[in-house]
Amino acid sequence: MLEAKGESAIHSQESSPGESGGKVPWGLVATGLLGGTLVALYAVATPFVTPALRKLCLPFVPATPAQVRNVLRAVQRGGGTLVDIGSGDGRIVIAAAKQGFCAVGIELNPWLVWYSRYRAWREGVHHKTTFYRSDLWKVNFSQYTNVVIFGVPQMMAQLEDKLRAELSSGARVVACRFPFPRQQPDATAGEGIDMVWVYDSVSFIAPRADTNPVHPVES
Ligand SMILES: C[S@@+](CC[C@H](N)C(=O)[O-])C[C@H]1O[C@@H](n2cnc3c(N)ncnc32)[C@H](O)[C@@H]1O
Ligand SMILES: *[C@@H]1O[C@H](CO)[C@@H](O)[C@H](O)[C@H]1NC(C)=O
Repeated sequence: MLEAKGESAIHSQESSPGESGGKVPWGLVATGLLGGTLVALYAVATPFVTPALRKLCLPFVPATPAQVRNVLRAVQRGGGTLVDIGSGDGRIVIAAAKQGFCAVGIELNPWLVWYSRYRAWREGVHHKTTFYRSDLWKVNFSQYTNVVIFGVPQMMAQLEDKLRAELSSGARVVACRFPFPRQQPDATAGEGIDMVWVYDSVSFIAPRADTNPVHPVES
């Protein structure tokens, strides 16, 4: 047993022979504390690292600071609304709220939803943010002027169909790291893993031919 070993190890170091009676078994206490801490850590960390999945596996991978900047460069200004699909720890929603957006996060993982609300409150933008614990496939995105998604390649085709059916005219979609497979972007921002693809609903709803070149967003 681990406990017995730890206990005897500590005792053999700390006590001279014949003196061990009445001593606190520190080895046992330490083992118990460590075990308890590991169980608590596991309980808190597991929902963060295991993919909250329904139809497919979309794990929590937070956006990089450069990615957040690229998203904010790409969205439409002017007091609109913004939704982050799978908002994770809320960093994009909070950054958008700081720029004046009414920003909404849709997130399946309840731990991340509560953490996002706490962060928004701590950063003073809770009145400009709303975090819903929902499955992205059950939400209608028609009311938003900016839709941000940091997904995985396997889901982008299905999401493309969903958004094409729901988006209102004048909406803009910003895809992080992975573009939509059948849609020509209107612009891009950034490069490498921080790259974002920008789609205006006009062209999103009716896919166009590959005639227009893709312009990087001006910063
Ligand atoms: C790649 S992370 C992106 C996090 C955040 N948007 C960012 O850029 O930092 C994807 C997030 O989607 C969440 N998610 C996975 N499946 C979901 C679903 N069906 N509905 C809503 N959120 C989901 C995951 O829990 C994860 O936090
Ligand atoms: C989404 O909501 C809008 C506005 O309420 C509605 O017109 C539209 O039909 C809905 N779309 C879907 C696919 O449910």
